[in-house]
Parts: sequence; structure tokens; C-alpha cells
Amino acid sequence: MKALLGINDLSDIDLAAVLDGSRCAPEPNPNLVVANLFFEASTRTRLSFEMAARRFNAMVLDLNPDQSSVSKGESVVDTAATLGALGANVVVVRHGEAGVPGLVHQSTGLRVINAGDGIGEHPTQALADAWTLKQRFGGWEGLRVAVVGDLAHSRVLGSLELLLSRLGVEVTLVGDAEMAGERFADRVVPELDEVVAEVDCVYLLRWQQERGVSLSPDRYRRFQMNPGREQRMSKDAIIMHPGPINRGVEITEEVADSPRSVMLDQVRAGVEVRTGVFSLICEDLA
Ligand code: CP
Repeated sequence: MKALLGINDLSDIDLAAVLDGSRCAPEPNPNLVVANLFFEASTRTRLSFEMAARRFNAMVLDLNPDQSSVSKGESVVDTAATLGALGANVVVVRHGEAGVPGLVHQSTGLRVINAGDGIGEHPTQALADAWTLKQRFGGWEGLRVAVVGDLAHSRVLGSLELLLSRLGVEVTLVGDAEMAGERFADRVVPELDEVVAEVDCVYLLRWQQERGVSLSPDRYRRFQMNPGREQRMSKDAIIMHPGPINRGVEITEEVADSPRSVMLDQVRAGVEVRTGVFSLICEDLA
């Protein structure tokens, strides 16, 4: 595998190798040089890629676009090619525009991992989520997951839906017409209360101010996970969120900190699956 741009780049064998943990205890690889190229803010994705790379004793080049020659007008592709000339052989790209990680891979020939592209995909987040579900439930087949919120602009959903369907999980989408957009208009459930007691997991999506959508926090709060809804969930059901969370918007303080909330497990899982992805993508660099 030379690039992980979306979930469909993973064969069934590669997917199983990442999710069964067999790729998560790597041998040191002195040839691995990872460049983090994040054009949008990130805490958990960026740092967990760095932690995963350090498990291989890899060198990590962490470029801050604001303090780089990007601020002088250098293009994303030229920047990535420069990192390649400096020795990077894997570039981890986050960008506000869908398709940019693919463009970098095609234009430079470098190995590229998509760390979130616009409203496209966020494949390693979905892998971390699948890992977390397996930890909680022992497997995926037959689980029911309700994904709630700004569906139309969610790159997390872009990857999560592809991955969960492959794993045999039933995905229900919840939101109003604007949250669904044209993309999901024909299949969205308009009320969280219709499904909250039926599912194994309520997966909340963030209210994303930075995507320029007009959804107000008040409108988003109609779908908020609050104590009343949390109490209606079945005994072992869990609440997931890719983070960062907006406390008081998509989730209340009490519910965010409740035992059902597995958000920090998702963060921990991110290091494991990103280790597995590095292991697949740098197999021939040993
Ligand atoms: N879930 C996620 O991508 O979080 P960060 O923006 O903090 O990386």
C-alpha cells in the first residue's frame, strides 16, 4: 500500500492486519522519515501520528504551514516535494479541501496518509473508532450505530460509513434536513429520540464552525446528547465522538464525563491504528 487516502485503499487483509493489532508492535525502522503536513488545526491526529512514528524510531518532520514558505505562496505539492527531497518518505496530510492528499500522492509519488481532507475522508479516525467498538463489544457484526449531527460536512462520516458497512455494522443517520444535505436527504432519521434506545452506540459529530455552515448552536442542541437521552440508552450502549467536543452543544458536560463516553478510548486507539497504518505503508522501507 503506497497511500491511504480513503477506506477503500485498504484491502480486507490490510484492514484485518490493522484492526487485529498484529501490526502495532513494530520493529525499529531507521529508514522511515515521516513528515506531518497539517494545513488545518489538530491535536489528537497530529500527535498520535507522531507517537506512532516514534514507535519505529522514525524521524518526524513537523511542518507548521504558517511559519513555512507556504506563507510566501509555495504550493502544497511543492511543499510536499521539498519535504521528500529532505528525506521524508511518508507524508501525513491534513487539508481543508477534499482531494489534496491524493493530489500530493499523484504529483510527488511519495507515500501519503490522509489525516482529514475537507469534507472528504478521515480514514485513520474511522479505524480508531472501529478499534474502540471492538474493544467494547468484542466484534462488529450486527452492532447498531446512530451517527448524529452535521452529516453533510463530515469527513469522519465519509470514512466511518464505508468502514462500518464493511464490518457488518448497521449505521443510522440522524439530523435535520440541513444537517443531512442532499447527500443523505433520502435516508436521514429526523429525531434522535426515535433511535436512542435502540442502538449500541450513539456517535456524535461536532458542530463545525470552521466549515462555514449556517447551523446555529441552538439548532444543533435539538440533537444534543443530554442526561434524559443518555438514561434511555440500553445498559451497555456507548457514546462516541471523534473530538474535539463542544461541551454544551452536541453533548452536555455530565454526559461527556459519564462512563458511557469512550472518547478518550478513541484517542488511545488512534495511536494503535496509526502504528498499524505506518507498518503497512512502509513495509518495503525496512
Ligand atoms: N478527531 C480529530 O481529527 O481530532 P483533531 O482535529 O484534534 O486531530
